[in-house]
Amino acid sequence: MQSTLAKPSAPPKIGTSVTRIDGRLKVTGAARYASDTPLGDPVFAVLATSAIALGRIVDIDESAARGLPGVIDILTHRNVNGAVKRTKLFSDGGYVGSTIMPLASDRVQHAGQIVAVVLAETFEAASDGARRLAIRYAPEPPAAGFDSPGATTVAAKDVVKNYEDPAVGDAEGAFAAAPVKIDQHYATPTQHHNPIELFTTSCAWSDGKLTVWEPSQNVTGLKNGLAEQLGIDPEKIHVVSPYIGGAFGSRGSLTQRTALIAVAAQRLDRPVKLVASRSQGFTIASYRAETRHHFRLAADHDGKLQALIHEGWEVTSRPDNYKVAGTDASTRLYACPNIASKVSMVHADRNTPGFMRSPPEVPYLFPLESAMDELAAALKIDPVELRRRNDTRNEPIKGLPYTSRSLMTCFDRAADAFGWKGRDPQPGSMRDGDWMIGWGCASTMYPTQLGPATARVTLFPSGTVKVQTAAHDIGNGAYTVIALTAADRLGIGLDKITVEIGDSDLPPAPVAGGSNTTASVCNVVAKACEQIRARIANAAVVGDGGVFLGSNPSQLVLADWSLKGPDGKSMPLDQAIARASNGAIEAYAENVPHGVPPEGLKKLYQGHATLAGGAKMKDRIQFAFGAEFVEVRVHARTREIRVPRIVGAFAAGQIVDPVTAESQLMGGMIWGISSALHEATEIDRRSARYTNTDLAEYMIPVNADIDRAQVIFVAEDDRQINELGIKGLGELGNVGTNAAVANAVYHATGVRVRELPIRLEKLLDAPALD
Ligand code: MOS
Repeated sequence: MQSTLAKPSAPPKIGTSVTRIDGRLKVTGAARYASDTPLGDPVFAVLATSAIALGRIVDIDESAARGLPGVIDILTHRNVNGAVKRTKLFSDGGYVGSTIMPLASDRVQHAGQIVAVVLAETFEAASDGARRLAIRYAPEPPAAGFDSPGATTVAAKDVVKNYEDPAVGDAEGAFAAAPVKIDQHYATPTQHHNPIELFTTSCAWSDGKLTVWEPSQNVTGLKNGLAEQLGIDPEKIHVVSPYIGGAFGSRGSLTQRTALIAVAAQRLDRPVKLVASRSQGFTIASYRAETRHHFRLAADHDGKLQALIHEGWEVTSRPDNYKVAGTDASTRLYACPNIASKVSMVHADRNTPGFMRSPPEVPYLFPLESAMDELAAALKIDPVELRRRNDTRNEPIKGLPYTSRSLMTCFDRAADAFGWKGRDPQPGSMRDGDWMIGWGCASTMYPTQLGPATARVTLFPSGTVKVQTAAHDIGNGAYTVIALTAADRLGIGLDKITVEIGDSDLPPAPVAGGSNTTASVCNVVAKACEQIRARIANAAVVGDGGVFLGSNPSQLVLADWSLKGPDGKSMPLDQAIARASNGAIEAYAENVPHGVPPEGLKKLYQGHATLAGGAKMKDRIQFAFGAEFVEVRVHARTREIRVPRIVGAFAAGQIVDPVTAESQLMGGMIWGISSALHEATEIDRRSARYTNTDLAEYMIPVNADIDRAQVIFVAEDDRQINELGIKGLGELGNVGTNAAVANAVYHATGVRVRELPIRLEKLLDAPALD
């Protein structure tokens, strides 16, 4: 029998390269970002932020601002006080990224804290009003960070629940006894995400219900967290965030602004729209705080590690114990019998830092991968060979097996593509005219983490498909990989599939953090598709006139717009659907991954992600790995640093879409170069204020800074981690890059830079080229 429907485009399989299905919408400007949403008769909000880092607001003279035409109202601690309820920090099982509560009292706890919200008929009037607030402070001397008087240090293990510093054996004894040692200090700077889409929030109330348009990595969390802050039923809140102009962790937890805009909209009984400035984005959202490391590595003469001791310090805010603690990774990358580690937080008068792309691994693998290079140089062993001698199938702390680990395959593939064997190990030996050439490499690793997720898939009689899940596309290609999964499982072309995500009314999915989205969400979408397949197959094997009468339904698959049997029998899709249902076939699936306790599912509905994976499992350890090779050129006279090429090879399980995956990894490596050479938020240590809060002075690479960037995929088939074998890779690419660049700079110049970023003034001591 002929199908009555036109056959759609060929259904792609998981692993096929397809361009982003949301790409056209984005490049044509049709994708509607949160602040693009037209609001009926909106009020514009502009924030005023504090000029001091610590102290009290003595007085706010609002008269000049209130006298401006168009200014409607001004929120300050004097009239907001108490309207927003205190909630727990995200990393303590709550939703907020900082427990510092602006407008809750006259206290100022960090520079750039929100001190007033000016509400006006126009953006211009609100901006003018914010500038005309005359605020008098009683300042106190702030602690800016490390080494500041008044900063206090606490050990993570003493203040963070369930936190342990990884350790095994007798590290101090083994270090003392070992013949070859590296004992150094390293540091990474403050950094800010600077997503191109600014921090925006629009709120509108209608019949006691609140709609929030805000770029978010966690719509279900935002809904539930805001409900807690406002003391209302979460079902009264609808969060809309279909497109996100970058996030990188800055939109995973609730910031202080959202509740204030919701309160303003309620009081004025009109929609309120806030678009914070680029500069305010440095202080009203989270950031990557500076870290310091004392790193010790010891080996025998063959390069076998004998001891690894990693002590790390991180800056956090006065009230919050936010920690990244990348020793979970740095102590487990290589075989080593004696390991000790300790993470401490240094409380200073700063906003609470938060997740920023690969939060633990970017700062904590910098000392490890630098020290490995230093050890290789001390032993006169090739850095790749040193890593091979310390490769392992089991992590060294508890001896748990890696589900899969292709680190050395990554090194071999990337080294080949890079031409590593042509390297003269002597620093300063490779030159091209005025340029000193250096080649360096480093390992990368990132935990494979999954959380409970849910999805609804609806197959319509016409053969079109709708996939719904409250996941997020933060540039990771979520729309595309979700569509690809449904296409693969239902045998239907991408042009017939629509994906709805980024909306809190949809079935909940985890926060788009920890690179879990593709693994968590594609697996649950596949599960829903399987329910549909089973229903169609079960209907196909019974009743009159079917070609599959009496077949085993578990052997029937949906492929190429048909239901197919192992014996070559086939039924057009629309007929198979019609046998199973008079209308659409809908499936709702819930998935709880291995290692997640059963209550994880309930928590998901409350907007909490219970991610399992990495080094936090009882029975195994699961990470994605890679190797990155960098060429730098340092000009002999000016010490200008260029990176003409970078090659990375990565093993991250099943790659769902090589196109979006390559973009993620390439973007990660570029950010890694940025992290090594460009980025740092400068802080005035007397005032504890940031000084370069715009994209003119916060250095990031431009196209001219990046030349060739090559991504190589190393195939991996790991069905232990999850049914589809997906590891996730959003954060993998930018781990280790900083060390690879630093190692290349050392090779070019003989100067070892242990404090990032590496700017040319740090290379002035390099020997000149004669
Ligand atoms: Mo990412 S820092 O896990 O959003």
